Amino acid sequence: MKILGISGSLRKASYNTHLLEAAREAIGSAATFATFDIGGIPHYHGDQDGEEKPPSVQKLKDDIASADGVVIATPEYNYSLPGVLKNAIDWASRPAFKSVLKDKPIIVLSASMSATGGARAQVHLRDILAGVLAPVFAAPDFLVPTAQNKFDDDGKLTDTPTQEMLQKRMDSYLEWVRRLSS
Ligand code: FNR
Repeated sequence: MKILGISGSLRKASYNTHLLEAAREAIGSAATFATFDIGGIPHYHGDQDGEEKPPSVQKLKDDIASADGVVIATPEYNYSLPGVLKNAIDWASRPAFKSVLKDKPIIVLSASMSATGGARAQVHLRDILAGVLAPVFAAPDFLVPTAQNKFDDDGKLTDTPTQEMLQKRMDSYLEWVRRLSS
């Protein structure tokens, strides 16, 4: 199985990117795990969304198409998801209702320095993914609140309860993806 990870944060020391790395560890040898950096994706531009697309956009679409499932770890910006993540989804979402996101099993994670852990970003992201016909793993929101206390300076997830919860969540997510792809 192939799993693709996408972080909604572009910064190097992003807790969400660190959370994706923790998800990679939790997946272990159960699947291959690659990440896609959305930092190079241009603003959505309908005139560039023809047969030939910007190379980074084409790569995003190809990577999603060839993955059995997608893990998205998103920060919350002003009670929603970051614009860069929405923009990447907009590119990937075309043609409408027939895109590479259609029927792609997705799991949403979030980390935030606040006590709410990105819950409001997840609500918006789940709604957007419903609009592109991508099923989201049905489970209570996976939130990492006060993320600054849960990762070490090297970006490793050190909080044991969060690690254990992530392991269980990724195990059951992979089981779901496996069931859907068989
Ligand atoms: C934030 N942050 C934030 N946090 C939150 O829980 N709710 C929010 O509405 C916001 N709003 C917000 C807006 C903007 C523009 C920024 C830059 C930040 C804080 C944010 O969650 C925190 O900085 C995370 O650490 C960002 O995620 P990464 O970059 O660490 O993955």
